Amino acid sequence: KLAAVIFDLDGVITDTAEYHYLAWKELADELGIPFDREYNEKLKGVDRLASLQLILDRAGKELPEEEKLALATSKNERYKKLIQQVTPDDLLPGVKELLAELREKGIKVGLASASKNAGAVIRSLQVEAYFDHIVDAAAVEISKPDPEVFLKAAEALGVHPAHCIGVEDAEAGVEAILLAGMTPLGIGDPKLLGRAKKVVGSLEGMDVEKLSTLIS
Ligand code: G6P
Ligand code: MG
Repeated sequence: KLAAVIFDLDGVITDTAEYHYLAWKELADELGIPFDREYNEKLKGVDRLASLQLILDRAGKELPEEEKLALATSKNERYKKLIQQVTPDDLLPGVKELLAELREKGIKVGLASASKNAGAVIRSLQVEAYFDHIVDAAAVEISKPDPEVFLKAAEALGVHPAHCIGVEDAEAGVEAILLAGMTPLGIGDPKLLGRAKKVVGSLEGMDVEKLSTLIS
């Protein structure tokens, strides 16, 4: 029985996945490393330093730790500039309606994000009140595809993972949901998110009844 829905943030609640891409793209261009949307799929859901490493790996480039930290900080400065524009109008289609219905029906709602900027984005979207618990990068030691972030959310919500649906736009995220023993709903391309129980283009029209059929 459905007890909780645990959402990823970037690319699920709002399209900040695009801003992460644009910020990494600028940095990769400056470093002269080829980087495109296809390769970017591997970065989705992956924490900041691991994302940088994936970009460097592509060019077989090795850098000292402190230079990597400086580059990661530079990417984050670009990203923070981009998210200054985020307003409640940037909620993706269907999100607000689904959050409202979950609340009304007493189903717990969690957020499981690998981003240190998750709190700021949620505040800009003005949806904090819909979440019973938020787990962000600060509370997590191992990045997706490790299930830690989803398990921490379920624990805080007081629900068994088997009664949770996780919603994700990233391959690493779908994997994390499966490893957590939850049911994954994918947002995006079925070819990339094939391991999800179901994949939809967006949350438009998604409701508690449809979610319940995925889990029972
Ligand atoms: C999310 C995004 C990733 C991003 C990561 C870290 O998982 O999908 O693209 O790299 O968060 O975000 P941060 O804001 O901490 O750099
Ligand atoms: Mg995401």
